[in-house]
Amino acid sequence: MNIISAKTLVSTAALANHACDALIVGVFAPVGKVKKMTAPAASYALIDALNLSAAGKADLPTAVGKTHTVYPSVGSAVKAARVICVGLGQEKNFTIKQYAKAMRAALGDCANEHIKTVVHGFMDVAVSDAAVADKARHTLILAHEVCYKYDATLSKKATVRALATLVLPVANAAELKAATLGAMQGAAIGQGANVTRELANLPANICTPKYLAKQAQSIAKQFGMGCEVLERKQLQALKMGSFLSVAAGSDEPPRLIVLKYNGGKKGDKKAQSPQVLVGKGVTFDTGGISLKPGLGMDEMKFDMCGAASVLGTMHAIAAMGLAINVVAIIPATENMPNGRATKPGDVVTSMSGQTIEILNTDAEGRLILCDALTYAERFKPAAVVDVATLTGACVVALGAVNSGLYGNNDALIGKLQVASKTSLDGAWHMPMGEEYHEQLKSNFADIANIGGPPAGSVTAACFLAKFTNAYPWAHLDIAGTAWKGGAIKGATGRPVGLLTQYLIDAAA
Ligand code: BES
Ligand code: MN
Ligand code: ZN
Repeated sequence: MNIISAKTLVSTAALANHACDALIVGVFAPVGKVKKMTAPAASYALIDALNLSAAGKADLPTAVGKTHTVYPSVGSAVKAARVICVGLGQEKNFTIKQYAKAMRAALGDCANEHIKTVVHGFMDVAVSDAAVADKARHTLILAHEVCYKYDATLSKKATVRALATLVLPVANAAELKAATLGAMQGAAIGQGANVTRELANLPANICTPKYLAKQAQSIAKQFGMGCEVLERKQLQALKMGSFLSVAAGSDEPPRLIVLKYNGGKKGDKKAQSPQVLVGKGVTFDTGGISLKPGLGMDEMKFDMCGAASVLGTMHAIAAMGLAINVVAIIPATENMPNGRATKPGDVVTSMSGQTIEILNTDAEGRLILCDALTYAERFKPAAVVDVATLTGACVVALGAVNSGLYGNNDALIGKLQVASKTSLDGAWHMPMGEEYHEQLKSNFADIANIGGPPAGSVTAACFLAKFTNAYPWAHLDIAGTAWKGGAIKGATGRPVGLLTQYLIDAAA
């Protein structure tokens, strides 16, 4: 785990005076025919102090996220060992999105070069849609992102990537307060997202339901949270027939993980009823008897990314000591096709009492989530948000850009949309409605577990909606956003940013 310490300080001194391994400055793209260099004030002064030749100045990158390193000559007024110049694009288009893109690139260079002390040289840049706290928070989130490297199952360990110190100079005491809070939150979110990445990237022969439960217990211990792990017998006593029908085909026993964070101030009524997060924890999804094709099936180790993101979020809110009560519920199981496995056409009874005809054993996520959602009722939640790599159809609809956002309460949807904007962790509101529910009719049970090919992500959400009448509920289908395939295969850590921001806003 990379611990990156942020140092926020008020500094009106010129950036040239900061001795460090790397100083990051920003460069705006020139407008029209005027080739005069433009940059945030501090960056401009620093670039001036570098005394670059005309060609050196002309070579400074201006496209958003393009970087170029300049080494100050011996005896230069610039005390930094390197100056990483990063393009910011056109000033008039500069929003927090461009800021994050530029910062990710510049910090990425620092991580790749194993640079230790870094000074952020454009904290003074004006961002139309963000304040100092937002800049600081995103900077720390990104610093943790670029420092993450998976090596748990490699015989040769990676060199630890850690920016030991990241200095954020600001202009005055008010900015200092905002930046310090933002940096603290960003470090917690960044660490939480790395917890998520690590759990998600681990192979399914290591990251089993039992392993997830152990990790939850260790997070609970680290932060003094409550943790309860229910085993098969207890799930049977709770009559979780739907969840158990998925676990039936595996030799790995299922677990229901319940993690409780009590940060809410006593006497604060709003803080008493908890926010509940539910995460799909299918540690491997073969499809069951409705077996998936072989190509790319390895990626179904990521089918516990909902669970991993909920654990990462719990880690983040505990690390920042958020004043709120949150309960995490994680149904964890494999979906395997052994001789005891559930068969297409089997009918099971969920904890809610509703019977379900399992027409396709590969639609298993909703079968474990529905019982977890019924279990959530006992906490009398202020709201419930479930997170799941639920449908391939969601990947078709929204790709890797936005998670699918569904729900039964407009106010809750609105809050998640706001958090999505603030965190730059995209989510798009998708429709539900009676007409779609038609697709889930069954001749042999109260509902079927699939609604046919049309609107597959929508009908999956409609299935869950039948179990969430007791509270405001939202559902995030993260099938397209939780991991990347191809050469850069690996977990993204999403939607820890969105979920944590939602909870920060709820605690405010
Ligand atoms: N875990 C998968 C969803 C998935 C597939 C996520 C591909 C990311 C990439 C889920 O359990 C599943 O198999 N869903 C089926 C549902 C279908 C049988 C109605 C799907 O999407 O094909
Ligand atoms: Mn499946
Ligand atoms: Zn699945």
